[in-house]
Amino acid sequence: MSMLEGRSIIVTGAASGIGAEAARRFAAAGARLTLADRAANATIAEEIRETGGIAQFVAADVSDEAQVRAMVAQAVSAYGRLDGAFNNAGVDQQPVALHEVDLAEWRRVTEVDLTGVFLCMKHEIAAMLDNGGGAIVNTSSVLGAIAVPKSAAYIAAKHGVIGLTRAAAVEYARRGIRANAILPGAIATPMFADAEKDPAMAAQLEAVKEAHPINRMGTPAEIAALAAYLLSDAAGYTTGAAIPCDGGFTA
Ligand code: NAI
Repeated sequence: MSMLEGRSIIVTGAASGIGAEAARRFAAAGARLTLADRAANATIAEEIRETGGIAQFVAADVSDEAQVRAMVAQAVSAYGRLDGAFNNAGVDQQPVALHEVDLAEWRRVTEVDLTGVFLCMKHEIAAMLDNGGGAIVNTSSVLGAIAVPKSAAYIAAKHGVIGLTRAAAVEYARRGIRANAILPGAIATPMFADAEKDPAMAAQLEAVKEAHPINRMGTPAEIAALAAYLLSDAAGYTTGAAIPCDGGFTA
């Protein structure tokens, strides 16, 4: 039996990058998917259905509680239960020093990257308690564990995601819910592929690669594989963990 056979799983930020690749990976492992994104782009759900998988698309902004509640309700109504969630939607911040971060920019970043994860967990956990348990995986970042200049809001939010993950892990362990966080290093999403074609960006990208001991960027598939494992019963004794997937960047 495939590792996520029949599991009802939500993926947020599923329209692009890591979320889209996770959707493909979970579908191949037998999951029944609710793919959510703020961008009303259902292409990934259509792709999965066309290749024989089970997926529905829900347009939802993770920073809006009513939309998150509706997203979870739609997963439960389609599949009868919620077994897992990959809370992965996120935005980057404008690269400016902390003393120059507008309050509006702080709020834009933290409302998606931290409050969004809180709202998703709140409603997903309520649904999981109804069926005796489940597994949550949150996308943090290496910047959830270390800091670099000009990313204070993102860094604070991604550190917060690890705190939320740990809080849920200890609070719900005895009720069958596990919660873990993945800390990706630089992942070659389509955004990076575009940058690679730009000679002005190429040198910067080379430096990014060299900062990782493995000397390349990671792939969305490598994050998706770790997420699939953490959502599966194979990770039954792993909870409250914050796991780097970063080519040795934070080692
Ligand atoms: P991406 O930009 O390709 O995909 C993010 C998706 O989230 C987009 O489809 C976007 O529409 C969606 N989204 C943004 N705000 C949303 C909201 N409020 N509600 C619902 N959906 C929303 O980015 P990527 O690279 O796939 O990133 C996914 C996650 O991985 C993010 O949390 C990001 O912070 C994290 N990450 C990415 C790294 C990288 O190098 N790509 C490194 C470390 C962490």
